[in-house]
Amino acid sequence: MKSDQNRRKYLSEYQSPEFTIKSTNLAFELDETQTRVLSKLQISRQTDSLDAPLVLDGIGLTLLNLNIDGTSLHSGQYGVTEYQLTIFEVPDEFEFSCEVEINPAANTRLEGLYLSSGNFCTQCEAEGFRFITYYIDRPDVMSVFETRISAPKAGFPIMLSNGNRIRSGESGNRHWVEWSDPYPKPCYLFALVAGDLARIDGEFITASGKAVALQFFTEHHNRQKCAHAMRSLQKAMKWDEDTFGLEYDLDLFMVVAIDDFNMGAMENKGLNVFNTKYVLANPQTATDNDYLAIEAVIGHEYFHNWTGNRVTCRDWFQISLKEGLTVFRDQEFSSDMASRSIQRINDVRMLRNHQFPEDAGPMSHPVRPASYQEINNFYTATVYNKGAELVRMIHTLLGKDNFRKGMDLYFQRHDGQAVTTDDFRLAMQDASGVNLDQFQLWYQQSGTPRIEISRDFDQAEKTLYLEIKQDPGTTLGKANQPFHMPMRLALFDQQGKAIDLDGQGLLEQIVDIKEQNHRFKFEGIDQEPLVSAFRGFSAPIITGSDLRDEELATLMSCDTDPFNRWEAGQQYATRVMLGRIVSKDVQKPVHPREMLEAYRVILDDDKMDYALVAEMMILPSEKYLGEMLDSVDVHKIRLVREGTRGLIAEATEDLLLKRYEECSEQGEYRVTPEDTGKRSLKNICLAFLLILEKTKYFDLCLQQFNNAGNMTDQIGCLLPIVHFQNPVREEIVRRYYEQWQKTALVVDKWFSAQASSYAKDSLAHIKTLFDHPDYSIHNPNRARSLLGSLIANSSAFHELGGAGYEFVAGKIIEIDAINPQVAARMANAFLHWRKLLPSQGQLMKQQIEIIISTPNLSSGLNELMTASLSTD
Ligand code: BES
Ligand code: ZN
Repeated sequence: MKSDQNRRKYLSEYQSPEFTIKSTNLAFELDETQTRVLSKLQISRQTDSLDAPLVLDGIGLTLLNLNIDGTSLHSGQYGVTEYQLTIFEVPDEFEFSCEVEINPAANTRLEGLYLSSGNFCTQCEAEGFRFITYYIDRPDVMSVFETRISAPKAGFPIMLSNGNRIRSGESGNRHWVEWSDPYPKPCYLFALVAGDLARIDGEFITASGKAVALQFFTEHHNRQKCAHAMRSLQKAMKWDEDTFGLEYDLDLFMVVAIDDFNMGAMENKGLNVFNTKYVLANPQTATDNDYLAIEAVIGHEYFHNWTGNRVTCRDWFQISLKEGLTVFRDQEFSSDMASRSIQRINDVRMLRNHQFPEDAGPMSHPVRPASYQEINNFYTATVYNKGAELVRMIHTLLGKDNFRKGMDLYFQRHDGQAVTTDDFRLAMQDASGVNLDQFQLWYQQSGTPRIEISRDFDQAEKTLYLEIKQDPGTTLGKANQPFHMPMRLALFDQQGKAIDLDGQGLLEQIVDIKEQNHRFKFEGIDQEPLVSAFRGFSAPIITGSDLRDEELATLMSCDTDPFNRWEAGQQYATRVMLGRIVSKDVQKPVHPREMLEAYRVILDDDKMDYALVAEMMILPSEKYLGEMLDSVDVHKIRLVREGTRGLIAEATEDLLLKRYEECSEQGEYRVTPEDTGKRSLKNICLAFLLILEKTKYFDLCLQQFNNAGNMTDQIGCLLPIVHFQNPVREEIVRRYYEQWQKTALVVDKWFSAQASSYAKDSLAHIKTLFDHPDYSIHNPNRARSLLGSLIANSSAFHELGGAGYEFVAGKIIEIDAINPQVAARMANAFLHWRKLLPSQGQLMKQQIEIIISTPNLSSGLNELMTASLSTD
């Protein structure tokens, strides 16, 4: 029955479940290798299913016994395959019970019940519950759960599940506990944790005065590192009350941090399970970015309690219903906690570097996909990040107050239900009166729309005609219909002063774009203005404009929207670098003097936030540049981008040093926008200075490393130094490891940094790291830190001759047999072979063919590799 796992599922085939499960009663007898799971399910037939058999999902389970209404079934009454249990005849209402045995110690996939550092934990989304027991494993089957856990007292003092703890007791050397979750939920939100864990306590009083106990659980040696995550949780709870009127609904909220986890974190009802990476922090071991990521992920999983758990997904085509919306919510939370413009810059960077390439490649799919083979392949940048952009556009189109009304209506209508993205859109439409019919195309059509903006200025009439042309792209080769999107717009005069748009002081306007062609008219304008369009990235599109270089430079220093200031710099640098990439002679020294001058202006602007200066100094990524080209020579892109950074470093050396020194004054470590901005600018200046390869800057790097009081400053040295063949590199790499070898998350950064080295022979060196005693294929963080960084490093992965492709393909095949979800994530790197130069592309394709012909390949990896070779 392999066909079942590899079969494509279609949204159009959706049928409501034939049976529902009113209540689920589970009893776990925990044992490392022989765990028994006894389940009792109250099942009822849905009226229109007549005499359909009961079909339950289950994989890798040893069935011990099976009962309907207390009578055990004999072998003729049911059938078992590798993936399902079918009971041929069942009454309309009955109690189903079964006992199975599973082996958590042998579970390397990290889906279902497994062991991490000796502790039991579960991961059930999307379809992991079927590795625990037989069940109707789909999100529109919602049930209340009661869970009894029994384990040896010695190794497992802590035993957790969803909801409230209702009873406990002991017998002999074992003890037991019972949990009850009153809120009906799909089984993907089930969780169980048992082990010897430290508990960190906190509290939150809700707006209506209820005390909620907050409990974090970690391994004992990490107990001092949970304070930031605890504070983040309290802030998130408060923010959701203030922003959306949403209160927490149980008396207890638990977070467990574990080392071995496929994803970042999981929103199980009342019992979130986290990768330690998104919980543990102190200034010595976590960077500023880690601090911000922890706040964001804690917020994200907490926010799912309403957007995902109370209102869940009807089917897995609707993942964006919960993920897109919840990403939007965590982005807004982070914006309110720190800096809105820096948050927006980073969110857009993420979209451009990951979602745009995905949407232009062979796995391109709409935010609500129409079909999938392996659901784990659809937790994508498109579903998450483009999905969040759709919610953001709705927010822009409706305005803040109407958006809030839409959310209120959504919960009023759908609390306790499993629904679709259409239900969300309709709630927004009905609450606001804003028509979102055309907007639904965003959920159905894939591809990134392109918008061309051009000016037609009539000096005599003092009138600007703004032409907006939309190319909506294609979905599966078929032309898309035009999208509905909001364009935030401002105009500036040539000196960079904002222009009054309506004669009454209106400086920004939101216009609806719905057609393929628009022509907007602005009167009373004295000279040809600069157009600041799609401010704040008001739609997830690729734009081209007719702004001249010097006009971009003006917007870089004058635009009143910090995001568009950054954006003007990105467009300018993209233009200059693409020009050099497509020119025949790369060696020819092109000195884009005006651009270099613009960077001097930015570095010299003491009115700008440190953080914004820092962001503006980061050139568009190699990935983004590649995305703007039809055929990609990754080595040339790196050469040009690094060359441009070198030119900037030469042209701004004095200012870089001045800024470096200015930002080096240190007080007590705090994660405030001001302080993180300072550290970020300081470390960017250091990275630029190192490019000049002067002894004094290598010394400066070493000096910073010696004096660093926090991980941000240490990493600020390690990351840029790995590119150079220099004794300082050797010293920093060695001493960093000596200092941190016992701290897993910090060692991950060490592997990752070395695997990102631009140095010529980097692949050879990176290969040796796979033999390092600390490397482990079983820990996803470690595997990703080394292999993931190698893949992102074009010098190594795309080494001429194909040695990188061959090495990585071998590792992916090896990981696939252990943990298919991690393997598939890594394998995304092979999707884009067609865009490479033919010589490189063919070498990559050979490795895809090797992967695809591997026996027992997982369904997920099979889907990706097949897509990469398909010709349509
Ligand atoms: N529900 C997901 C976790 C998940 C995804 C589990 C796919 C199993 C399969 C969770 O809410 C999530 O989205 N986590 C993100 C972090 C978040 C901040 C975007 C993750 O784990 O990367
Ligand atoms: Zn999520």
